[in-house]
Amino acid sequence: MKKASLTLDPAFRIGAVDPRVRGSFVEHLGRCVYGGIYEPDHPGADEDGFRADVLDLTRELGVSTVRYPGGNFVSGYQWEDGIGPRAERPRRLDLAWKTLETNEVGVDEFAAWCRKAGVEPMMAVNLGTRGVQEAAALVEYCNHPGGTYWSDLRAKYGAKDPHDIKIWCLGNEMDGPWQIAHKTARDYGILANQTAKAMRLVDPSLELVACGSSNRAMPTFGSWEAEVLEHTYDVVDYVSLHSYYRPKDGDFASFLASGVDMDAMIESVIATCDFVKAKTRSKKSINLSYDEWNVWYHVPGDEREWVTGPALHEDQYSLADAVVVGSLLNSLLRRADRVTMACFAQLVNVIAPMTTVPGGPAYRQSTFHPMRLAFQYGTGATLRVEPTGPQVDTPDFGPVPQLDCTATLDEENGAAAVFAVNRSLTEPLLVEVDVRALKGARAVEHVALSGADRDLTNTAEQPDRVQPRVQDAPVVEDGTLRFELAPMSYNVVRLATAG
Ligand code: AHR
Repeated sequence: MKKASLTLDPAFRIGAVDPRVRGSFVEHLGRCVYGGIYEPDHPGADEDGFRADVLDLTRELGVSTVRYPGGNFVSGYQWEDGIGPRAERPRRLDLAWKTLETNEVGVDEFAAWCRKAGVEPMMAVNLGTRGVQEAAALVEYCNHPGGTYWSDLRAKYGAKDPHDIKIWCLGNEMDGPWQIAHKTARDYGILANQTAKAMRLVDPSLELVACGSSNRAMPTFGSWEAEVLEHTYDVVDYVSLHSYYRPKDGDFASFLASGVDMDAMIESVIATCDFVKAKTRSKKSINLSYDEWNVWYHVPGDEREWVTGPALHEDQYSLADAVVVGSLLNSLLRRADRVTMACFAQLVNVIAPMTTVPGGPAYRQSTFHPMRLAFQYGTGATLRVEPTGPQVDTPDFGPVPQLDCTATLDEENGAAAVFAVNRSLTEPLLVEVDVRALKGARAVEHVALSGADRDLTNTAEQPDRVQPRVQDAPVVEDGTLRFELAPMSYNVVRLATAG
């Protein structure tokens, strides 16, 4: 069997893992809101109409932050439609997803849902069809204590205390021609700057995210970030990144190596941020908010009438998809020093790790598992591991390391974890880890997502077909931890240390 090697050493610390990388995304799209987090007629709905099973799974998954309300949806959204007595809220045509929006759920309901789920809200403002005034008004509605038009309205509608929402996205994918009102980098940069200033005048404690490119294939990728940041560097804290992956033309080798593309995107955006930092002679660094990422098959929906909560983009994820998601999680953890926020898209039903049956149960998709494992055990700080070993050939990326690996060390809890993906479809891999620098290291457990059928999915009837399984106990001998990776597998190997 071929072998790969790496080293775990506290001296090779990259940066603390920010809990906000465990974020997700709830958009008014398909059945994410209506029929996902909110289904008032469901037998398990709580007094606010929220599905208790979805709340439970969100907590089990370990989600820290949830972005809302879009996505493409936000670029045509009038947030005022979603406040006040439900019966008086307007029904509107959502042009982004050809959906009938009833506005039964708006910002107050979302904030209430976040409190129940124990997650931090992350709001996006509409910089497509709207601008500075509406964004500042929304901050006033959400965060101002009282005594003004918007804050008193919030209190009148039941939320006496401010929602105190700290993280705000200045629009969404504003480079994308699919938006009703997309912009040039210059126009967006100027608008984002003005909006940021107004929002910060209302609440100086906000953390703001400027829109980066919609994906790495956009022809303006790179120049968009540079120009937008030149206009906004001093007034924003993060720039956004979005990436979705799927196998193309049956090329599973490249699909399994999707993390190579994500790594490249991260390095490229960091370089652009630091270039603008030098150019503007700024003292602060801009960090990365990877606020949409996932596997997404982009199955076109059927022609339909204007309805609420149609089943859109309900991908059924396979074992292979879960392994790729694991490898994308590795990429996010790998640059913990700069990727300090991330949101997998989306939380429920829409390209999601959990699916609900209308009136019935909710179940975990295959992709739930790598997320839960990485969120639970990827704590403390990321370590640089510098693996060496065999390579696999891929049509898209050329030869890539067979082992995709990162590791974290949580000194406070005396725990370390190695997150390892075997990118070979056919070959197992032996991994040897030099742990001599970890005081008192002993192996705790090796769990893996693997199997012969890469297309295997979970279903409502068989919800546990794809799930992590405990492997042979790994051992540490003479300062070396050894374990085997099955072909095409996602693995978490945990260690206890003496601190
Ligand atoms: O997450 C689905 C969609 O993908 C979002 O609405 C948009 O921002 C992205 O293109």
